[in-house]
Amino acid sequence: MPGMAVQDLAPYTGVEPDEAWAHEVRKLARERDAVLLAHNYQAPAIQDIADHTGDSLALSRIAAASDASTIVFCGVHFMAETAKILAPEKTVLIPDARAGCSLADSITGAQLREWKAEHPGAVVVSYVNTTAEVKAETDICCTSSNAVDVVASIPADQEVLFCPDQFLGAHVKRETGRENIHIWAGECHVHAGINGPELAQRAAENPDADLFIHPECGCATSALYLAGEGTVPAEKVKILSTGDMVHEARDTKATTVLVATEVGMLHQLRKAAPEIDFRAVNDRASCRFMKMITPAALLRALREGADEVHVDPDTAARARASVQRMIEIGKPGGGE
Ligand code: 13P
Ligand code: SF4
Repeated sequence: MPGMAVQDLAPYTGVEPDEAWAHEVRKLARERDAVLLAHNYQAPAIQDIADHTGDSLALSRIAAASDASTIVFCGVHFMAETAKILAPEKTVLIPDARAGCSLADSITGAQLREWKAEHPGAVVVSYVNTTAEVKAETDICCTSSNAVDVVASIPADQEVLFCPDQFLGAHVKRETGRENIHIWAGECHVHAGINGPELAQRAAENPDADLFIHPECGCATSALYLAGEGTVPAEKVKILSTGDMVHEARDTKATTVLVATEVGMLHQLRKAAPEIDFRAVNDRASCRFMKMITPAALLRALREGADEVHVDPDTAARARASVQRMIEIGKPGGGE
């Protein structure tokens, strides 16, 4: 379960993602009337077998709209939980329920309640990387793709509490020019590790490259600083959700792109624009939780109907309004 110690996280192994595996996965998915969703950070074989790949927002929207009676969510626990909140009548499976998220673990429902008590009347905006309990205490959820639109939709004179990601919060504050926004000091261990000096060095080595930067990155502020001082042309610095990176890959004229996010992203980018040389800013930026969704785990999920995701109905009912507002705000897209 999310929050377990690292030594408890040995993933399911022993299955090769070959043709026989792919055949079996498709057959079992058909028998279960299941749609397979995969986040852009999943291992290539999982992305390739999925019916849809995308960012958190796109996958939430697809989960909400799908006709399938079962959703198999190849991603981390909060994503599968969000699907269950949006589609309580469906069976939601995650191939390994231990696939948590260090960012989602950085704020609890009790901590948020305490924070709200210090700021009565403030509007709470929570990133989708949160537990159902936190979502139940939230006015509007957002993802990296619509965080700016969500905060911009709140009347300018209303105080905002933004949680839990400090780097995404800083991005939203910059973009909206809002001063009355309080930001929780949480972070994702993978993105916080993609730092400014590393980015500056890679940018200096690749002066013509575009920079695709996820707003959870510790280096997002540094990238804008590099643009501000003219080290990198401002139009080459692009702060994007994972889904928007795929769209931008199709549009850019650059021949080299430096990618600051989890390395699983490179697979969709290379598929979208095979002629572009995509390079990770930090090739050690791998999310061990995302990578727990192995070929063996997916097969087990489909054979055994496990792990099933449950959300307490009262919590889900309170969380649903904030998640519903999230999927209604912002541009369409972000998934394939
Ligand atoms: P996206 O919504 O951009 O896909 O990001 C999800 C996530 O967990 C980033 O670490
Ligand atoms: Fe969570 Fe970070 Fe992994 Fe995304 S990359 S799922 S934010 S731990």
